Amino acid sequence: MTGRSTLYFVVQFIVAVNAFKAPTLGSPQGLRFNALTRFSSKSHDSALETEATLRSITFCNLPKEDDPDLLCDFLMEIGACSTAITDADRGTDMEQPVFSEPGADPWQDRLQWTAPVWNRCNVTAHFPASAQIGGVLEMVAETFPNQYPDLQDFVLETLPNRDWVVHVQKGWLPIVVNDKFVLRFPWHKHSDVQKVAWNLNSNDFFELELQGGIAFGTGEHPTTQLCLAWVDQVITDKLEQSNGKIHLLDYGSGSGVLGMAACILAPHQVAAIGIDIDSLLLKAHKSAREHVAEQEGDHSANLDSLFLPSDLEETKYDVCVANILAAPLVTLAPVLYSMLLPGAVLGMSGILPDQGDMVVEAYTKAGFASMTIQKEQGNWLLVTGNKPIM
Ligand SMILES: C[S@@+](CC[C@H](N)C(=O)[O-])C[C@H]1O[C@@H](n2cnc3c(N)ncnc32)[C@H](O)[C@@H]1O
Repeated sequence: MTGRSTLYFVVQFIVAVNAFKAPTLGSPQGLRFNALTRFSSKSHDSALETEATLRSITFCNLPKEDDPDLLCDFLMEIGACSTAITDADRGTDMEQPVFSEPGADPWQDRLQWTAPVWNRCNVTAHFPASAQIGGVLEMVAETFPNQYPDLQDFVLETLPNRDWVVHVQKGWLPIVVNDKFVLRFPWHKHSDVQKVAWNLNSNDFFELELQGGIAFGTGEHPTTQLCLAWVDQVITDKLEQSNGKIHLLDYGSGSGVLGMAACILAPHQVAAIGIDIDSLLLKAHKSAREHVAEQEGDHSANLDSLFLPSDLEETKYDVCVANILAAPLVTLAPVLYSMLLPGAVLGMSGILPDQGDMVVEAYTKAGFASMTIQKEQGNWLLVTGNKPIM
């Protein structure tokens, strides 16, 4: 979009907003309209009068050829505070996984994707409550006459004025994984843990405190659960064999949940590697260290190595868990091989059912043995193998 048109849209929006007195909005319920009439949006707006601070509009079932990304850009240009694209077919048989991952070309070519969006998308934009949604609709129709000449399917909602952080925290209970780990956030109280682990003996599970933020790995996702169960099993087996410390590599650490679990299960040296390292992750690792020291009464468990892939050290590991995605895992096969000791075991997830063979093949080619699709949970695979003892 050129600077000129950007300016034009902004001016147009301001004029549109000013042309209509800021509404007081009503019912907080979503309203679905089946046809766009060229309305002075007063009729819609007065139906939505309330103490809302934000209102949202969701354009439904847009074909990907209509470039929902461009629509998002436009909505931001005219004053949206945020936009989001979601899969209109989510939860149906037509739901389709879409990833924009490095090195994903073979996968993308196979599905002939031209852009990493779904076949049919919903686009949601949040506007300040004072914005004139009718004006927004008119501008979209006028600006995209070919794609959206007569928008017919959209939903308007108002968001009540509330402390959203507290609201989200209240609705987010700790998560129990495999009856062994309770993953909680700093705001959770003992009573929250009891609510979810009421059927467990407090000596039988470990609490892992994660930091709230953007990092993947809250414990909700099947891939995290598959990897946690595998780490638990492998550490038990390895400890029986080795009678000592284990060096574990958590490749693609996200929240650091897998590395923390390893630390808590037994004395280990754990290295976590990620590409989205930020202060939250560092905090998570710090809290894991403190947590372990507190629980074990000593400092033998050690989660103090944190690397970017470009800063890898020479250490070799006995165990590697890597929950990333199939395409980067395939690319990483020789790297992981070189980082492991002979006899080391490897567990990977982030792999979809029809990607399992591709991963097994890549790791076998890189020198790993016994590469096996171990388990499937929620449409995700756990693939395991080992580095042969020469
Ligand atoms: C699916 S999350 C897994 C997080 C956590 N380990 C878990 O199991 O819940 C994958 C993580 O791998 C990171 N990642 C993706 N590609 C990577 C790469 N090439 N090297 C290192 N980390 C990568 C992502 O940033 C993300 O934090």
